Amino acid sequence: MKKMLIVYYSWSNGNTERIAKELQSVTGGDLLKIDTAVPYSGSYNDVVRQGQEEVNRGYEPELKPLEKNPADYDVIAVGTPTWWYTMAPAVLTFLHSQDWKGKVVVPFMTNGGWPGHVIRDMKAACPGAEVSCELQVQFDSNGGDKLETPKQKIEKWVQSVKALL
Ligand SMILES: Cc1cc2nc3c(=O)[nH]c(=O)nc-3n(C[C@H](O)[C@H](O)[C@H](O)COP(=O)(O)O)c2cc1C
Repeated sequence: MKKMLIVYYSWSNGNTERIAKELQSVTGGDLLKIDTAVPYSGSYNDVVRQGQEEVNRGYEPELKPLEKNPADYDVIAVGTPTWWYTMAPAVLTFLHSQDWKGKVVVPFMTNGGWPGHVIRDMKAACPGAEVSCELQVQFDSNGGDKLETPKQKIEKWVQSVKALL
């Protein structure tokens, strides 16, 4: 049986965390939440603006030390909210900090209706990985926590990821 690590970043409502935990509960993989060393502060709109500026300059924020080592796992699921049509900057830092050769990467993302090119950008940031079972999940367009994607789609995805192990 292969070992799976589920890495995720979640800032607004725990939307991405919710998907990560659903995957964890069925597959039994280890969970690793990543976070920036310097927390975002201010209102939601302040962070939306800061996020735009960071995405535009390709900023890679320093992360808090990782509590698990991705090198110890065969399959690594990586989850991110959509920030300005791409992955959140913290996830870009994470993907660029690992050696992906020989790993299977399962990218998943949440969005509010404007998914942009998150999955494409995630694939480009983990060269050498075999990418499988990508998933896009839509929540409501106000940045809230109402799931719009049918639950069955997520359940089916969880089963297909489990079948990789
Ligand atoms: C800085 C920032 C930028 C965002 N940009 C987008 C976007 O480009 N497209 C989109 O559909 N949603 C965007 N959103 C909404 C989030 O992607 C969405 O609410 C997501 O599910 C939040 O996940 P979380 O609760 O795990 O942080 C943005 C939210 C933030 C805070």
